[in-house]
Amino acid sequence: MSGKSTIEDISRDWTETERVILSRRSVRNFKQEQVPEFMVRRVLEAGRFAPSAGNCQPWRFVVLRDRQLIDELTETVVRRCRIIRAMVDYRRPRFQWLRPLANLLIRLKPNDLHPVPFGAISLIGQGRLGLYHGAPTVIMIFKDRRGISNPDLDCGIAGQNMALAAHSMGLGTCWVGFTKLAFLYASRWKERLGVRYPYRFASSLAVGWPVGRPDGMVPRQTHPVDWYENGTQITIT
Ligand SMILES: Cc1cc2nc3c(=O)[nH]c(=O)nc-3n(C[C@H](O)[C@H](O)[C@H](O)COP(=O)(O)O)c2cc1C
Repeated sequence: MSGKSTIEDISRDWTETERVILSRRSVRNFKQEQVPEFMVRRVLEAGRFAPSAGNCQPWRFVVLRDRQLIDELTETVVRRCRIIRAMVDYRRPRFQWLRPLANLLIRLKPNDLHPVPFGAISLIGQGRLGLYHGAPTVIMIFKDRRGISNPDLDCGIAGQNMALAAHSMGLGTCWVGFTKLAFLYASRWKERLGVRYPYRFASSLAVGWPVGRPDGMVPRQTHPVDWYENGTQITIT
């Protein structure tokens, strides 16, 4: 096989689509200025036209543009992060005794309590990490549990379509998975936002005008790819 084609090698030849994909960054500092409604509608359209298994379109989008509502939602998540921190954060001085319980919970919920979310939950609970980073618009994605195959995946594709469309318009986005905490257990948010069966929270996107220029290449691992062709197999890195 000839030649390498890593992103760095071909950066001068990027298509417009590659430019949008590869220059997108998670934005964690937004201007207060609201995003015009028509732009949010266009972003939603990009989500609506995402592919989905069996064209089930197993999603429902909810847009929050009310500062007070976003602040209240943030407060719920921060409160829940504080509770989780109190229950499992054994790294605090004099809380080593929590370690066996934390280890058990980490085993039971390895995705939710991987070291990255574990650390982030603690920071959000202490008010040291923002949730929506001051974004004036939040798009919430709820999955329709009846979607065939893997509705979470479909919601992810729809969300990334929206993130890329927003970025192509000069907007910034940040996925915010921690919104999930507002919908766990006895949550008044389901009622408040009219979320009933068959919908369940999938993820959310903070959307707004970025402060500064956060775009740029984020280092990524080069995962080896096995490549089968003409009766041979090679691994490209
Ligand atoms: C499903 C999902 C959930 C995420 N949740 C959060 C979050 O709650 N808070 C946050 O600041 N970033 C969140 N991120 C952003 C990731 O941290 C970010 O995409 C990653 O570090 C790569 O950086 P980049 O987006 O700038 O390329 C999330 C990303 C994804 C895909």
